[in-house]
Amino acid sequence: MTTREKPQNLWMGRWGFVLAATGSAVGLGNIWKFPYMTGEYGGGAFVLVYLLCIAAIGIPIMMVEIGYGRRGRGSPIDAIRRVARESGQGAGWSLIGWMAMLCGFMILSFYVVVAGWSVSYLWKTVTGGLSADTVDGMAAIFGANNANPWNLGFWSTLVTVVTMVIVGKGVQEGIEKSVRWMMPGMVIMLGIMIVYAMFSGGFGQALDFLFGFEIGKLSSAGLLAAMGHAFFTLSLASGAILTYGSYLPDGKSIARTTFTVAICDTLVALMAGLAIFPVIFANGLDPASGPGLIFMSLPLAFEQMPLGTLLEAIFFIMLTMAALTSAISMIEATVAWLNESKGISRVKAAWGTGIVLWIVSTLAMLSFNVGADWTLVGKNVFGWLDYLTSRWMMPLGGLGMAILAGFVLRDDIFRSELGLSRTQHALWLFMIRYVSPLGIVVIFIDALGVMTLDMGRQWPWLLAALVVLTVIGELFSPRLRKQLAG
Ligand code: TRP
Repeated sequence: MTTREKPQNLWMGRWGFVLAATGSAVGLGNIWKFPYMTGEYGGGAFVLVYLLCIAAIGIPIMMVEIGYGRRGRGSPIDAIRRVARESGQGAGWSLIGWMAMLCGFMILSFYVVVAGWSVSYLWKTVTGGLSADTVDGMAAIFGANNANPWNLGFWSTLVTVVTMVIVGKGVQEGIEKSVRWMMPGMVIMLGIMIVYAMFSGGFGQALDFLFGFEIGKLSSAGLLAAMGHAFFTLSLASGAILTYGSYLPDGKSIARTTFTVAICDTLVALMAGLAIFPVIFANGLDPASGPGLIFMSLPLAFEQMPLGTLLEAIFFIMLTMAALTSAISMIEATVAWLNESKGISRVKAAWGTGIVLWIVSTLAMLSFNVGADWTLVGKNVFGWLDYLTSRWMMPLGGLGMAILAGFVLRDDIFRSELGLSRTQHALWLFMIRYVSPLGIVVIFIDALGVMTLDMGRQWPWLLAALVVLTVIGELFSPRLRKQLAG
């Protein structure tokens, strides 16, 4: 057994990790992506499956991920290798860490483009460039903003540079300080918008749309999307949470922090939905308008509100900050790895990574103008980066982490990391061994078209599969563990 590594940096305050992890989790995923996906996949059914995925897959896996980080004290690759070695396992498991790191990098390369939209809308607000009074007018502004690669490239480059400067400095202090006022600010802003929406029509329709659960309505693509989004919105399986976990002091409760982060994240997403869909229905915008949804709908609401311009400016400042605290976390794994394992200084690591990032993100940015037709099976660069990471890489990484923690590692490792009571631990183990993996595998099978899922009617079969799997697993796993451990 290796001795436990000493952590190199720890979060400053008692709340440091919670704030940073919340800052990573709450971002464009909640305010930009969640509403437009909900719109695309038909509303309530998507929301329900997304919530189920957060509870059954996201939360247990987040606990695993923080556990790896704290136990292995390092970047995803090193931490997972160390934890596996502690149980006598080979270095092959660190492949999960490699994939996670790559995934974080790929996500960031399209994330900066969307964050660039946010900054450019802040600029437009301040300079009076958002004064259309119809949906079509707003759509035209969004289109024009994308059409010029120099304009769009300027904003995404700006975001890339700012991210790299912050990461180069070391994330702790900057993140902890900004998240402390930004999170409450974001919630207040969304609160104001929800109150406005209550009185300006469309609210009832929005409630029906978001919470009218008709599970039979969800397509296979929608299922896969909901699961992928649960990973995305919690920043899972892409190095971010694991690396932050490696800075978590011993003795902090991993379970409690996980629940806090997941609940905050979910609340912000639902609030964003409640703020955005009323505007969409009141103005006859199509909920399935895709990635431009919030940029076409929200400015319209602000336009009509008293003090609208001021509130709009504050909103886009908040959105940009939320995007930045997430962006920083995505690249932290790569920079931490270059720094800790390769001995490259943080600043050099950040700039080196930043240059590669800039090239890939420029390709993603061009998807909205000159590169719109650079497609492969119907998806452009931006589309592929999003699709591969959210739908496949993150769930696969999560599956690997769950199996490693549930079946392969020595039992005492997570017992001591999580420090749960007997019953709680048994419940966690049940989730991580059977519920999360089964959920992920079933959704994959469905998405691959091997069989079609109709959860409204087939849930008894799923339940039966879970029971059978659990019985088999529990009968064989102690033996399996011994064999694997040699
Ligand atoms: N969770 C963030 C959001 O909802 C995005 C994010 C941050 C992320 N770090 C990540 C996504 C790492 C995947 C992986 O906007």
